[in-house]
Amino acid sequence: MWKSDRPRNEADQIPSYEPGSPEREALAAAVEELKRAPASLPLMIDGREVWTDDVVEIRAPHDRRLLLGQACLAGAAELEAAVASALEAHRTWSRLPWPQRAAVFQRAADLLSGPRRMAHLAAIMLNQSKTPYEAEIDLAELVDFWRYNVWFLNAIYGEQPEQGYREINRFDWRPLEGFVLAISPFNFYSIGGNLPTAPVLCGNVALWKPARSALLCNHEIQKLLVEAGLPAGVLNFVPFASRSGGAVLSHPDLAGLHFTGSYETFVELQRQIGMNMAHYRSFPRVVGETGGKDFLFVHASADAVAVGANIVRGAFEYQGQKCSAVSRVYMAESLWPQVRDYLLREVADLPVGPTENLTNFMGAVIDEEAFDRIGLWLDRIRDHPESYELLVGGGRDASEGWFIEPTVVVARDPKDRIMREEIFGPLVAVYLYPDEAFEKTLHLCDASTEFALTGALFARDREAIAAAEEILRHSAGNFYINDKPTGAVVGRQPFGGSRHSGTNDKAGYRANLLRWLSPRLIKENT
Ligand code: ALA
Repeated sequence: MWKSDRPRNEADQIPSYEPGSPEREALAAAVEELKRAPASLPLMIDGREVWTDDVVEIRAPHDRRLLLGQACLAGAAELEAAVASALEAHRTWSRLPWPQRAAVFQRAADLLSGPRRMAHLAAIMLNQSKTPYEAEIDLAELVDFWRYNVWFLNAIYGEQPEQGYREINRFDWRPLEGFVLAISPFNFYSIGGNLPTAPVLCGNVALWKPARSALLCNHEIQKLLVEAGLPAGVLNFVPFASRSGGAVLSHPDLAGLHFTGSYETFVELQRQIGMNMAHYRSFPRVVGETGGKDFLFVHASADAVAVGANIVRGAFEYQGQKCSAVSRVYMAESLWPQVRDYLLREVADLPVGPTENLTNFMGAVIDEEAFDRIGLWLDRIRDHPESYELLVGGGRDASEGWFIEPTVVVARDPKDRIMREEIFGPLVAVYLYPDEAFEKTLHLCDASTEFALTGALFARDREAIAAAEEILRHSAGNFYINDKPTGAVVGRQPFGGSRHSGTNDKAGYRANLLRWLSPRLIKENT
């Protein structure tokens, strides 16, 4: 078998960007370069740039006047061409010796962690409104996905069944027959890069529909893969409006859906796939991660400063727009005065503003729709003092960009909507429970929402940790003890949730890759 070493996590090697450092200067130059000339972004079908009349503008969320470019959307004709090109590419790509396929992604990872780093970071910062640190961990995650997926898949290819008397048994690790549709969200460039490429690495071909609000940085990924040697047609970059997608979803050769996005969209996609089931050549593999209502649960034995610091980071990094972000806190009453003081002190002073100003902790939320949606929650808090105590924040300002203040609110009723529904913004609700009601409140936490993506427990008491682990067994696919529930590192914290949060096929782990393989077992008698 071809050898592939265990990668070192890029996430552990992020430069510091100290003032005056060469990294900081290079990053500032890359940002200026991007601002200078708006880009025109074509589709990529069969290795060719394709231009359409259906275009969308790309603007920086934190500076509405800053036009970053415009991007083409695919219509029915382009999607048909993309499917045809992918199916044609399947013939050769699925047969290409494994080391050659792996080499494309190793080259892409090397380019991204080396010469292309600054351009990609700048695109992430301006297009997604991420701070340099958030952009770096996002970029590092994609490098890690590519390197680790090669390593995991190499090990899978080495797995063989048991042998019998005078019989030789072996696996032929085939990709799926047909094409995979990858639909990716705005909030992680790494998820955008991973959703189409995990199946592609396994020998599949794909159509990629990235979110409309992250087209600039996702287009950079597509370009990088071409530069790394991905052959024409294997991965077709075709952002499209949902009204155009019907023919792709009902195509007889649809072999899989790799999705991250909202619960409602995932349900609708599965409904359409279900309706078309009799038309497919095989049962499409459906892998998806959706929303979360992620919790941070605090036992009275916890360290108050650690709790405060992890609420701030877990709830407000990237403006709370991580599917893993802390959105509800269950707080032991006796610890609250200390944590409250910490939050009052720290949150009010968090610097919010354009992400090219490297000292800001938060940028803007992604677009007007998000700004308005989160704004409705802020109005509700203001209008219902009988239900909520606003501790800090609550303001918003759209004069230059889609800015929302980091907001902490105490919810008097643990069953209030604010403790149950996904918000996807910099707003965290805290419910105070009497210390002696710890176990009862764990049950409440478990039963409060349909989501089960991430969750965290802060406690020093071993019995409390054991009780929480048991009672919250199905409440989160990723459960963290004495750490925030964001920031999974590829390979170390395979990521995914259950219940309405997704199919829990663990991105950044071999389990995900197995979904894109359809092994043939071959037995030969001797
Ligand atoms: N994988 C991302 C995190 O863990 C969503 O925060």
